[in-house]
Amino acid sequence: MITPKKIQFANIPTPLEEIKFEGKSFLIKRDDLTGCELSGNKIRKLEYLLADAKRQKADIIFTSGGDQSNHARATVIAARKIGLKTKLFLWGKDTTSPNGNYFLDKIFGADVQFFSEKEYENVNDIMFEQRMELLKKGKNAYAFPGGGSTTLGIWGYINFINELKEQIDLKKVDSIVAAAGSGGTAAGMLVGAALNKLNVKIVAVHVLMSKEEMRKQILQLAEGCVLDYKLDCKINPDNLEIISGYSKEGYKKISETKLKLLRKFAFQSGILLDPAYTGKAFTAYYDKFIKTGKGKKNIFVHTGGLFAVFARTKEYLG
Ligand SMILES: Cc1ncc(COP(=O)(O)O)c(C=O)c1O
Repeated sequence: MITPKKIQFANIPTPLEEIKFEGKSFLIKRDDLTGCELSGNKIRKLEYLLADAKRQKADIIFTSGGDQSNHARATVIAARKIGLKTKLFLWGKDTTSPNGNYFLDKIFGADVQFFSEKEYENVNDIMFEQRMELLKKGKNAYAFPGGGSTTLGIWGYINFINELKEQIDLKKVDSIVAAAGSGGTAAGMLVGAALNKLNVKIVAVHVLMSKEEMRKQILQLAEGCVLDYKLDCKINPDNLEIISGYSKEGYKKISETKLKLLRKFAFQSGILLDPAYTGKAFTAYYDKFIKTGKGKKNIFVHTGGLFAVFARTKEYLG
């Protein structure tokens, strides 16, 4: 087994809290508290990716995402911590009044290139071409895809399982529920569970891809990681459940029905959820586990994303 090196960025272990909502208790793992400017699930992946970038003597970091990407923002800030600049390849439009994550991208001095949705389909090729151009000038750009979901990045969520099993007996837990975008968080948890010989289900509430694509992507990442790092475990596809139907309004939007629930939850718990990921995953978790009183056997992972709320303040205020 090969264990990759990491740089410590995240404040871990993050708390596992018991919260009461509408009179029912449930467990929430607060990965939104991995840090402040640098917060949420992406840091755990960046600890590995940027350690590798450093090892490869990178001069600049390249990555991609939506204009309010939490991953892009976290990359820009984490790279600053090791003295590197980031170039972001973003899907969306530039604006004269940046807010939310994009505001932070600007403050931390990212170079940004915007693409239409259509152009963005080839973003990995575009990043590759630009890397090659820089290489001709003797500069080494270290590139990783949106969400930091590579077989290296997902080590962050392999370790998450090791961390969680110190906080709760995972043999007594039925499932761990989280939002899924690029799939790395779920894939890492799946590998972590397999390495620890746990039968816990990883439930991914997908917000971006189709259900089939999401399942394929998560399993490919998990199995790729087992192969790349010669891990002594077997991924059980039955331990992966994909929940659909919670992002019908589109990745960047959130419906008023969901916002009503999020406002109520915020008032009762002091915890705010984001429009693209956790707001949708929590709605699914609420329907499936809180309403049915199964919240203590099924853990909800708050994966962060607070800054994206500041790009949608009007809708949040109602
Ligand atoms: C707040 C938040 N939650 C969940 C996710 C999904 O994580 P993953 O891309 O690893 O599936 C992301 C990023 O994509 C995110 O920014």
